[in-house]
Amino acid sequence: MTTLCDLALKILGTPDAAEKAALSRIAARKWRETPSMEIGEAEPADRPSRPEKPELISPTEMPRRRGQSEEARATLLHAVLHIELNAIDLAWDMVARFTDAGFPRRFYDDWVQVGDEEGKHFKLLADRIGEFGFAYGDFPAHDGLWEAAYSTRHDVVARLAVVPMVLEARGLDVTPGMIKRFAKIGDNASADILKIILEEEIGHVATGNRWFHFCCEKSGIDPKKHWQEMVRKNFKGLLKPPFNEDARGQADFPSDYYIPLSETYR
Ligand SMILES: [Fe+2]
Ligand SMILES: [Fe+2]
Repeated sequence: MTTLCDLALKILGTPDAAEKAALSRIAARKWRETPSMEIGEAEPADRPSRPEKPELISPTEMPRRRGQSEEARATLLHAVLHIELNAIDLAWDMVARFTDAGFPRRFYDDWVQVGDEEGKHFKLLADRIGEFGFAYGDFPAHDGLWEAAYSTRHDVVARLAVVPMVLEARGLDVTPGMIKRFAKIGDNASADILKIILEEEIGHVATGNRWFHFCCEKSGIDPKKHWQEMVRKNFKGLLKPPFNEDARGQADFPSDYYIPLSETYR
C-alpha cells in the first residue's frame, strides 16, 4: 500500500517543476480520498530534485524588475514562482521528515493542504508568465530558500519557527505591495493571482504557528522566548519591517514575537 511518505518522496524526487506541482495536487487528493492511507516513514534527501534551470545566483545579483513591460512583469512573477516551487518541496519535506515526532494525523492533513495550495500557486503563476511567453527557468533565481530548511532538518520545532513563521510570514508583508503595483498598471490578472496567494498564505502561517505552539505546549516551553531563540539561531540577519500586522494577526501571530527581532527595534 502506498503511504503518505511514498507520495511525499515522489514529489521531492521529481526534478521537473510543472510535474512536481501537478503531483503535489494529485497526492493531496489521494490523501483526502483514502482515509485508510498510512503515514509511513521516509528519509528525505537533504535537497529535493530540481530542474537544471533556473540558474541559481546570490540575492544581490538578482535582475532588476522595474518597468511595465511583459518581460519586467514576468521577471517579478518568476521570483514568486520560484518561491512557490520551494514551498511545494518544503510542505512535503515537513510531511516526510518528522514522522517520529508524535504528531496527530491532523498535522499531516494540514501540511498536505499546504502542499496542495503551493502546487496551485505554482500553476497559476506559471500559466500567467506563459501568457507573456516565458516559463519557469527563464530567469535566474536565488538559492537562499532551502538554507533555512537545511539548517533545521533535525528539529521540527526550529523548522516550524523559521519556514512558515519567518519565510512565509515575509510573503504576507511583501505581497500587498506587489498586488498594488500590478493593479496600478492595469494588470488585474496578475494582481488577482497574487490576491489568492496572499489569502492562502495567511493560512500557511497560521498552520505553522499552530503546530509550533502545539510542540511548545507539549514540551512545556515558553513559545515566544523559544521562537525568538530558534529564529536567532537558524535565520541569518534581522527581520525586515514593515510587517503586515493585519495579515499576521489573522494568522494569530502576535507582533510582540517578531518586532523585537526586527531592524527597527535596535
Ligand atoms: Fe504559496
Ligand atoms: Fe505557503
